[in-house]
Amino acid sequence: MSTIQAAITAIQGYLPDYVLTNKELETIVDTTDEWITSRTGIKQRHILKGENQGTSVIGINAINGLLEKTGTKAEEIDMIICATTTPDLAFPATANIIANKVGAINSFGYDLNAACSGFLYALTTASQFIETGKYKKVIVVGADKMSSIIDYEDRTTCIIFGDGGGAVLLEPSTNGLGIQDAILHSDGSGEPHLHMKAGGSRKPASHETIDAKEHYVYQEGSSVFKFAVTNMAEVAADIMTKNNLTAKDVAYLVPHQANKRIIDATAKRMGIGDEKVMLNIERYGNTTSGTIPLCLWDYESKLKKGDNLILAAFGGGFTWGAVYLKWAYDLQ
Ligand code: UT7
Repeated sequence: MSTIQAAITAIQGYLPDYVLTNKELETIVDTTDEWITSRTGIKQRHILKGENQGTSVIGINAINGLLEKTGTKAEEIDMIICATTTPDLAFPATANIIANKVGAINSFGYDLNAACSGFLYALTTASQFIETGKYKKVIVVGADKMSSIIDYEDRTTCIIFGDGGGAVLLEPSTNGLGIQDAILHSDGSGEPHLHMKAGGSRKPASHETIDAKEHYVYQEGSSVFKFAVTNMAEVAADIMTKNNLTAKDVAYLVPHQANKRIIDATAKRMGIGDEKVMLNIERYGNTTSGTIPLCLWDYESKLKKGDNLILAAFGGGFTWGAVYLKWAYDLQ
């Protein structure tokens, strides 16, 4: 009996219409397009506007596109995992809200929060369900409405984040293509450097927490930068060594898009050139769980069956990791 692996067989992204440019940010906080571009690589980001528009909107649009482009019926979906740090509600899970809206009546699902590494954690988790042979169509959504937890008076965070995400369809593969390996790490001692102070069970929302602006991302940027640069590069190099891959074996690095300088350091450590690095940070900023599916979506037409991809991320927690996969299809 041949081994069952989980392969990505389709990808679809979604970005809300509104584009917040560096130029517009110059009118909101004390910053410049020059500073943002040189320190992060970001030029603009998309923002989900409107009443009652949560992260599920991104997931619903991405899945509807995925079903349409693959000719899959919503009833055929076995499971949906939604990686997000900005769920619509504390409960029920955003995955359930999405499943209901897309008509995935035979699916079950749940949310997974690993901050910026969320998509890699969810992909690795979902792949286990496929590998057992029991589930045939599993969807992983990576989506965040970061604008819902960003203080647009804080120039150190509001310039980085954006809204958006994507969905991938995972199906069984028996030809050696699909997910080959994953290395995931977490270290809770990173909490002081990157977190949201209130709104959870430890410190529920109150007038005081709102007045103290504690429902926003708190980030000690330069500390997080140091951990991110080291750990994302390290784990990407580790997964190559573990799988006997050299730079020439790798078709693309698919990095979390937090800061172009972190991406460059990771590529350098792997020994690969810029032409092998997926990059769209200039257009979308950091969409947290959304960055990696948005990269795969943007580069889908360039990917060839059998390409070796290294996905790598670092984020709040701290969490970080890398996934090695062999791309499973050519776009028709
Ligand atoms: O994705 C999840 C994980 N998160 C990350 O990976 C983010 C990692 N961190 C970063 O990407 C960077 O640390 C930032 C982009 C957040 C900040 O860049 P930095 O080069 O580390 O800047 P810094 O925080 O060390 O600040 C340098 C200077 C400071 O001024 P002084 O104290 O030197 O006078 C800041 O006040 O830049 C100032 N500054 C700004 N100036 C103009 C900070 N933000 C801005 C801004 N515009 N938006």
